[in-house]
Amino acid sequence: MRPFLSNADPFLRASAVAALAECATREELADLLTAPNDAERMGAWLALRHQQAKLEPAWVENALRDPSADLRLLALRHNADRVDRTHRAAVEHMLEDGQLSARLFRAALATLQVLSSNADQDYAAGKPTFSIRRPTPVELLPALVANPRLPVAIRALAVPQLALPLDAATTAALIDSLASGMDETFAREAVRTLCTAIATDALPTLRALATDTTRSPQLRADTLSALSQVSGWLDGLEVTLLGDSSAPVRLEAARALRLRPVSDEMRGALRAAMLRHPDDAAFIRVGRRVLGESSEIAPTDLERWIVFLAQGGDAHAGERVFFESSALCIGCHRVQNRGNAIGPDLSLIGRTQSRALLASAILRPSVNISPEYQGWEVQLKDGSTIFGLQLHLRGWGLQIDTLDGQNLRIRNEDIVSYGAMERSLMPDGLEHILPSEDIRNLVAYLESLR
Ligand code: HEC
Repeated sequence: MRPFLSNADPFLRASAVAALAECATREELADLLTAPNDAERMGAWLALRHQQAKLEPAWVENALRDPSADLRLLALRHNADRVDRTHRAAVEHMLEDGQLSARLFRAALATLQVLSSNADQDYAAGKPTFSIRRPTPVELLPALVANPRLPVAIRALAVPQLALPLDAATTAALIDSLASGMDETFAREAVRTLCTAIATDALPTLRALATDTTRSPQLRADTLSALSQVSGWLDGLEVTLLGDSSAPVRLEAARALRLRPVSDEMRGALRAAMLRHPDDAAFIRVGRRVLGESSEIAPTDLERWIVFLAQGGDAHAGERVFFESSALCIGCHRVQNRGNAIGPDLSLIGRTQSRALLASAILRPSVNISPEYQGWEVQLKDGSTIFGLQLHLRGWGLQIDTLDGQNLRIRNEDIVSYGAMERSLMPDGLEHILPSEDIRNLVAYLESLR
């Protein structure tokens, strides 16, 4: 049976696990838990769970430190499911592993959250609990972010998880990290968090970062894009940066102009910059659109779109589009804890979806609606329609959870009809709102999320 545990075919692997659970004793499986082969240890763990065998604390402890990320993930789930606090220290220890993936990091945090909330309840109920109250993960996050002894990759993963509004110490730590030339990934997360939190104290540092030619063009472009999301924060910076020598920065400066009234002075600066960079095709295209001289010919049907979106695109630029409010995506989707949860979390979407599937999901959302995300609509006598995520029928009428997070109560006498929406909650026709270049960059970005 053992060789099948490492077979490439998931169905064969699953059958091997089921057969092992049937035939092997708990002791034999315990032995297999120490096998050098990742797939065999994993198979032994799954077979033990299948048998509903009692797992010795030492096995769980080892699994939480296992070299295989998949087994560590299973061990985390086990701890969370059982609210088993015995291994809390091992879970916390995992957060300090410099090689931790985003997925494991999130699973470890979620596990800690479960373990902590239970501790709180025990405490409140007067049951015996630890003598020292452990911090909950949310309290733990600012410390993770600011801890100089932790690998910077882990600290960067913690930044998007910070609760908003930020406390003063965390704001100061993030600003310091930007000013001191902190690691690029960390800096990009810090920029986005500071702008989302509208942390006014950070404004001078952010503006300095956008114009600092010693920093990377992508980081500067990210900063420009994030600043453009807060009203008044660009304050003319985009006009200055139209002439920047870095292409991504110029492009973001031009894109920022699309969203606001353009004065004659701005038009002049834009034209001058376009003359200076005649070979920068992306910049010229956006510039023409701002000037109202666009001659863009977008694909006309889905097949052509899929061909257009099949390759190319700049994932960095796509990330900026994704997080801009004008693209609407973050109003409904989450990536790494940023955004809303009306639609599916897209943090790992690139693992399961090809570019063609991503393209049709974006352009034709109503073709495939999953029941989990079924939307509801209520027609009112006053002629308006209300859309929502959940509908609860009551004797006197109904309650509906709307997309903007309200719970409305509607009385029977105001209702003409109600029912499941035939279309997706996700809007059709994004290709009419977004330039084709933005859509291609978006697809490149989503593909990179894995
Ligand atoms: C009004 C809410 C809303 C907006 C805005 C929105 N989406 Fe969606 N999206 C959804 C919902 C709901 C689904 C689930 C699909 C379904 O079953 O209808 C979805 C599905 C998807 C999927 C497929 C996910 C999967 O697991 O298969 C992708 C990809 C996606 N959206 C990308 C985007 C992008 C990119 C944007 C911005 C340009 C966007 N969405 C804007 C609500 C939204």
